[in-house]
Amino acid sequence: MCGIVAYLGKKVAQPILIEGLKRLEYRGYDSAGVALLGSGAIRIKKTSGRISALEAILDEPNTAETFGIGHTRWATHGEPNAVNAHPHPDYTGKIAVVHNGIIENYGTLKTWLQNESAEFASETDTEVIANLIGYFYAKEDESKGGKKPDGQNKFEQAVQRALGELHGTYGLAIVCSEFPDMLIGAKKGSPLILGVGDNEYILASDAAAIVEHTTQAIYLADNEMVTIGPEGFHTKTIDNVTVTKDLKQIEFSLEQIELGDFAHHMLKEIFVQPKALSTCMGGRIDRQNNRIKLGGIASYLRELTRTKRLILTACGTAFHAGLVGEFLFEQLARIPTETEYASEFRYRNPIIKDGTVVISISQSGETADTLAAVEQAKERGATALGVVNVVGSSIARTTDAGIYLHVGPEIGVASTKAFTAQVAVLTMLAIELGRRRHISSDEAVRYIDELSRIPDKISRILEQSDHIKEIASANIDKNNWLFLGRGFNYPVALEGALKLKEISYIHAEGLPAAEMKHGPIALIVKDMPALFIATAGPQYDKIMGNIAEVKARGGKIIVVATEGDENIKSALGRTDHLISIPDAPELLQPMLTVVPLQLLAYHAAVLRGHDVDKPRNLAKSVTVE
Ligand code: M6R
Repeated sequence: MCGIVAYLGKKVAQPILIEGLKRLEYRGYDSAGVALLGSGAIRIKKTSGRISALEAILDEPNTAETFGIGHTRWATHGEPNAVNAHPHPDYTGKIAVVHNGIIENYGTLKTWLQNESAEFASETDTEVIANLIGYFYAKEDESKGGKKPDGQNKFEQAVQRALGELHGTYGLAIVCSEFPDMLIGAKKGSPLILGVGDNEYILASDAAAIVEHTTQAIYLADNEMVTIGPEGFHTKTIDNVTVTKDLKQIEFSLEQIELGDFAHHMLKEIFVQPKALSTCMGGRIDRQNNRIKLGGIASYLRELTRTKRLILTACGTAFHAGLVGEFLFEQLARIPTETEYASEFRYRNPIIKDGTVVISISQSGETADTLAAVEQAKERGATALGVVNVVGSSIARTTDAGIYLHVGPEIGVASTKAFTAQVAVLTMLAIELGRRRHISSDEAVRYIDELSRIPDKISRILEQSDHIKEIASANIDKNNWLFLGRGFNYPVALEGALKLKEISYIHAEGLPAAEMKHGPIALIVKDMPALFIATAGPQYDKIMGNIAEVKARGGKIIVVATEGDENIKSALGRTDHLISIPDAPELLQPMLTVVPLQLLAYHAAVLRGHDVDKPRNLAKSVTVE
């Protein structure tokens, strides 16, 4: 939530900051701003609204300004207006700050600073950081204002003193008008990456803002800061101990984050799923020996094989992938498994006995609740593994080991390819553990074989996009939907409802189909859309019964069924809808059945005129509680 970007180099900063902010806009988009240096004082421009609104109030770029910081906001403290937008100047006008995170003790610090005569203009927690730095900066002995014996300067020292007072999380970029060629970044709990180019530096929340300029970067760890100046950059802890960081290669390309011929990132990410899953599974499915190879957790496989209990933790879509994982681990490997919302797990008093392995699932690797769950699991002695997409992210670094999704950056706020890849990774792990614990080698080979056919089957489902659009269109005036599934497809029903809610703002509920008669069937009125996942499997007859119950009460039936199912056709009425998907073993179906639901939500959102990639009130990575 919130994106920060800073540029220090030889080029004109303003267009670089704007381009970087556009690439980070998925992280938050309620207000934006930049602060530019190079022509004397710090020049701040900010506004409510999106980056396009910021562009509209900016003058022509000033070629003298080759240094600046920028921010795109997802409001936490204070409404999204121009005053609360970042950058925030301090009360002396010498310091400016952009921030991603939350300062928990800002109230106490604000009162203290106000008593010290510091003035505040905004309602944000961030202004406290700016004023605290400004306060310590002003307090520094002016006679020692130049270089200190240990090489530190007044600006850096003031930043360190301020950071020492903060409780909470931050990714920060800080500038000072009296050090017009010095940028300071600091990180705790929010991501911060320094792109190192040829005589230029880009500091940003996400590599997406960097990759156009350089693919060489350093990933700051928590409680680390970086000072960038004319002599290069140096990294240290916030309490001033030098740390050496290796330059790392940014793993993705510009092409992966650009729209190409697609209207939206979400649509691109839905359509890229066959390729993404092939990449995710490619090097891991060894067809020659019919084995699954998961290098990232190779040294934990024996422990996993002996594990007595698995806990999967995650939020949102990743939680739904975890629920599919629960079915997989129990069915294939007979490992008792529970899936928990990370936000609940972290505040419970979970019983972690010897032999428990906690697997945390996260696309971004930055979700605050999931990260806290990892820490909680480790503190209680569990082995903590991760299933993460973003390489080098906080969860990837905090877990003991993990499996990367390798599906490239996911930009659309609504998670799509990450879900199918999370399920693919959990499936591969469950097959491998199953082969070691429960199922026969022949059975494992059959699943591996079927798994490798999934990308092609997804491609066939994608061909039905126009048909699914017609279904969305025929029901576009309906404001309440139900998504119903059983067994492995119950989590998919939850995911379908979440997708529809978050981008089309249509109320939807996902339920195990059999739960209908315990209450929710009371909601059914004439023509209310009820989407059933009724694919071939052991509960097919049961779900046909559930369909009949809803139909008898006037509901409009939309069914995702297996190709060639003639029975379902006769059960449907004239205005009901059918989406056919290729056959697959029940436990592999979620990677297929979710795809029409993703398309349905996408088309409904477009038909309703919503901004699919930037749904209201949401941001891509939820780095606050
Ligand atoms: O980055 P994560 O996978 O940890 O994110 C978890 C959820 O915030 C995320 O899946 C969210 O529910 C998506 N917007 C759903 O489409």
